[in-house]
Amino acid sequence: MKQEQLYIGLMSGTSVDSIDAVALQLHNDGVHIRGTYSLPIPKVIRANVFSLSEKNEVPVEFLCETDTLLGELFSDAAIELMSSCSIKPKQITAIGSHGQTIRHAPPGVHQIPYSKQIGDPNIIATRTGCIVVADFRRADIASGGQGAPLVPAFHEEIFRHPHRHRAIVNIGGIANITSLPKDQDCIGFDTGPGNTLIDGWCKKHIGSDFDNNGDWGASGVVCKPLLNKLKSHPFFELPAPKSTGRETFNLAWLDSQLNQCCVESKPVSPEDVQASLCALTSQTIADSIHDLDTKVDEVFVCGGGVKNSLIMSNLEEQLDDVAIETTENLGIHPRWVEAAAFAWLAMRRIKNLPGNVPAVTGAKRRVLLGGIYGA
Ligand SMILES: Nc1ncnc2c1ncn2[C@@H]1O[C@H](COP(=O)(O)OP(=O)(O)O)[C@@H](O)[C@H]1O
Ligand SMILES: [Mg+2]
Repeated sequence: MKQEQLYIGLMSGTSVDSIDAVALQLHNDGVHIRGTYSLPIPKVIRANVFSLSEKNEVPVEFLCETDTLLGELFSDAAIELMSSCSIKPKQITAIGSHGQTIRHAPPGVHQIPYSKQIGDPNIIATRTGCIVVADFRRADIASGGQGAPLVPAFHEEIFRHPHRHRAIVNIGGIANITSLPKDQDCIGFDTGPGNTLIDGWCKKHIGSDFDNNGDWGASGVVCKPLLNKLKSHPFFELPAPKSTGRETFNLAWLDSQLNQCCVESKPVSPEDVQASLCALTSQTIADSIHDLDTKVDEVFVCGGGVKNSLIMSNLEEQLDDVAIETTENLGIHPRWVEAAAFAWLAMRRIKNLPGNVPAVTGAKRRVLLGGIYGA
């Protein structure tokens, strides 16, 4: 008999643009997306999260209140999802809520490692009436891992091909890749900034939250000295396992690099900076793919960066010997892959199955990820 279970995944990444919610049907031979919903994050909460991620002195009350506000918002996203696809809470085995990362300090780079996600899961469990799995990253960190990226386990399960070496590239605020070689174990790591610097620069200079289609960046020209300066950040040279976040790649860092990079004593124009940031994202992804031990046959891209044509065309140029598609061609629209991954990770926790991949995160062992709240 076909055994089916329904899980919800809730995801908000480093871009802090929206809470993406996916109802994922899991059955013996795969997964099926039953419904999706995206709840934009109100400007004021977004600004709170940016302060909590980047400023060094923020009141503890501010952190606690934002934890509550985000718990309410994550609940709203789950409730709207259920009502939009006529699902009752009792049909849901569990909700996997990633939470909102406000700080990520992985081992290696930080002497005292931690990763902090907020969005109180007790509120989500109480308001939805569903069991909630949350706090996915810290068991991996407690086991010596980076706590990130966690999506490769899902990519491996859903996207692996028996005869072709696939790479899955997720371009969120930070970009990460999963390499699925045909006869070897999967590996994965963050490649560096995805959209985060592009969004921040765009907001600062033209006032919009993101560079629609990459059009503004496409009006500029890559400034090679600036690009080289940005690429000289030590993160790009670090071997995997590695992960990063807004605390490393933010506008303050970009400004410090720009201050050291006047070309012919003229500052680089804002649109040339934007073109250079898009090139930074695509080149560091392409370099990571070129540096893998075995050649990649095909690349599938997901995350909001798919909508930036400049990043995508740069990537195609850089990886001219590899077929580049989006995960839509593997059955999951690029927008929903990460949220679907956290629905799947909730299933792993509920079934007492490990969720991390030590080869990816560097953890000493496979562990159960997340705590269980509610019901
Ligand atoms: N139409 C678009 N044009 C260009 N970029 C876009 C567009 N839509 C979304 N994006 C980019 O995708 C980002 C959101 O991607 P997402 O995968 O949700 O990242 P995260 O996981 O960090 O939240 C936005 O902040 C923006 O940079
Ligand atoms: Mg997002």
